[in-house]
Amino acid sequence: MKTLLAILPVLAAAACAMQGPQPEAGRALYSDLCASCHGVDGRGDGPMAAQLKVKPANLTTLSARHGGTFPRVYVMSMIDGYNRAKGHGGMMPVFDPLLQGPTVLIDTGDGVETPTPARLVDLADYIQTLQSKG
Ligand code: HEC
Repeated sequence: MKTLLAILPVLAAAACAMQGPQPEAGRALYSDLCASCHGVDGRGDGPMAAQLKVKPANLTTLSARHGGTFPRVYVMSMIDGYNRAKGHGGMMPVFDPLLQGPTVLIDTGDGVETPTPARLVDLADYIQTLQSKG
C-alpha cells in the first residue's frame, strides 16, 4: 500500500505531462516566433520593437488587463488569424506552423470542447506563465 501511495503522484505527474498543458513546448515556439517583437520575457521590448510603428504589446499584463483572468482564447485568436485584422494591426506575420499538427479539445468559453491546434494551446499556456504577479 505504501508503495502504491508513493507511486501515485508519479503516475499522476506522468499523465499530466502527456495530456496537460505543455508550457515548455510553448517556450520554444515563443522564442522562435514572438520574442523578436514581444521580448524574451514578454514585456514588448524585443529587438524588432524599435523599428515598429505600433509598439508590441506587453504580454505580461494580459491577465491584469482582463480582470485578473488569463484571456487564453483571446490570446489564441490573436495568433491564429481569426483576429488578425484587429490583432497586430494587420502586420502579424503568418504563423501557419502553429496551426498544423495535432489538436486538443479546449472549451473556448461556450462550454463546447473545440478541437484546437495543440501548438497554439502550448504557446498560450507559456504566455500565461509570463504574467506578472503584481
Ligand atoms: C513583427 C512583430 C511581432 C511579432 C513577431 C509578434 N507580435 Fe504580437 N504584437 C505585435 C504588435 C505591434 C502588437 C500590438 C498590436 C496592436 O496594438 O494593434 C501585438 C499584439 C499582440 C497581442 C495582443 C496583446 C494585447 O495586449 O491585447 C498578443 C496576444 C500577441 N501580440 C501575441 C503574439 C504572439 C503569441 C506572437 C508569436 C506567435 C506574436 N505576438 C508575435 C507585434 C508582433
